[in-house]
Amino acid sequence: MVLFLLIYSSSALADAKMNLGLEVYNNKAQCGVCHSLQSAGSQGQIGPNLDQLKPTIPITISAVTNGIGVMQSWEGILTEEEIEAVAYYIFNSTKN
Ligand code: HEC
Repeated sequence: MVLFLLIYSSSALADAKMNLGLEVYNNKAQCGVCHSLQSAGSQGQIGPNLDQLKPTIPITISAVTNGIGVMQSWEGILTEEEIEAVAYYIFNSTKN
């Protein structure tokens, strides 16, 4: 029973993180204007296709926090939690 609760609550947390990540991707930061990502239904062509790139969590955190090339930095615009969630969302949507 305790084990069940532990498993249940960690998967509920993981779902919450995926949902927040998708919300950041589609609404708060609108990453899809520039990036393609099948699971989010986005077809942006300005930045790399994330389904092909399959970025690790640290790569996305770094790109979003610091900016890269023409991509802006979201430091101070998104919270650390939101940046982590979008990185987590992209990683888990593309790793297969
Ligand atoms: C204005 C267009 C634009 C937006 C909006 C944008 N990106 Fe990017 N992104 C780019 C471009 C262009 C590059 C390639 C930069 C380079 O390599 O010079 C890039 C690169 C990346 C990379 C690869 C980094 C690497 O090290 O190769 C990731 C991951 C990424 N973006 C994720 C995101 C996420 C997540 C968001 C939303 C928070 C986002 N991008 C929003 C244009 C954008």
